[in-house]
Amino acid sequence: MSHSSLKTLLITGAGKRLGKLLAEHYLQAGYRVVAHFNSVNELPEHPNLIALQANLSDSAAVARLCDELVQYGPYSGVIHNASCFVADGVAAQNNTDFQDHFQQHFSVHVYAPMIITEALNNHWAEPAWMTVISDIYSDIPNERFAVYCASKAALQNWALSMAQRLSPQVRTNIIQPGPIQFLPEHSEAYREMVLSQSLIKQELGYGAIVDACDYLATSKAVCGNVMRVDGGRFVANRYDQTFNS
Ligand SMILES: NC(=O)c1ccc[n+]([C@@H]2O[C@H](COP(=O)([O-])OP(=O)(O)OC[C@H]3O[C@@H](n4cnc5c(N)ncnc54)[C@H](OP(=O)(O)O)[C@@H]3O)[C@@H](O)[C@H]2O)c1
Repeated sequence: MSHSSLKTLLITGAGKRLGKLLAEHYLQAGYRVVAHFNSVNELPEHPNLIALQANLSDSAAVARLCDELVQYGPYSGVIHNASCFVADGVAAQNNTDFQDHFQQHFSVHVYAPMIITEALNNHWAEPAWMTVISDIYSDIPNERFAVYCASKAALQNWALSMAQRLSPQVRTNIIQPGPIQFLPEHSEAYREMVLSQSLIKQELGYGAIVDACDYLATSKAVCGNVMRVDGGRFVANRYDQTFNS
């Protein structure tokens, strides 16, 4: 099948973990996938996969990425997934200038999605959808990750403005993952503690977010929605300040 007859989907941060799973899922579903990555691209080659590298905390790299992206439109879908997650204290320990710490989070979570979405103006298919991956911690303060939480909250509010601006052609929605998939370095005690603070006491896995993306991509009445996919952790109201990171 020629590329022009396939629906095209952009996924940022698609080189590994959730973004990679999303890319593989939508390739399997018959999309042409434009997969942005930064330092690592674990996606195997595929005839309908275009992989583009950019450091989203570098505004010149974001501009170059936008120039490349517009060549592959029109876009039926965009998933803004790229994210950085550094505790304020860790940045300080590493002697990272606070301004750089702030700039990195706000560039990856807010500036880059904004600039990319601006660039895609006139490059959307009809109809199209945009899904933004935020975090339940957009709505929960966390003194250790104040910059991360603030930047995810900004991403979320920007996305709601896009739901207004881009509709009805592009339906924009937000997914707030909770702790969905543990990492090898997470201890058994940490896993038990986190699961004890949710209602569905199982590790959900990235598949839960893929399911939510599918739902939002196909649900024509859903626009400007903030969907928590967190095993009920927000409602359990038993989160604490502990992140194992
Ligand atoms: N995992 C969870 O339990 C959880 C919980 C709540 C929310 N979320 C959200 O769900 C999404 C996916 O989670 P995840 O764990 O798969 O995320 P992740 O691996 O921490 O980040 C996703 C991607 O963002 C990329 N990224 C980081 N800094 C970048 C930069 N400066 N420029 C370009 N790309 C950059 C990373 O690539 P590089 O490493 O190559 O830079 C990575 O592949 C994220 O938006 C995350 O915030 C996840």
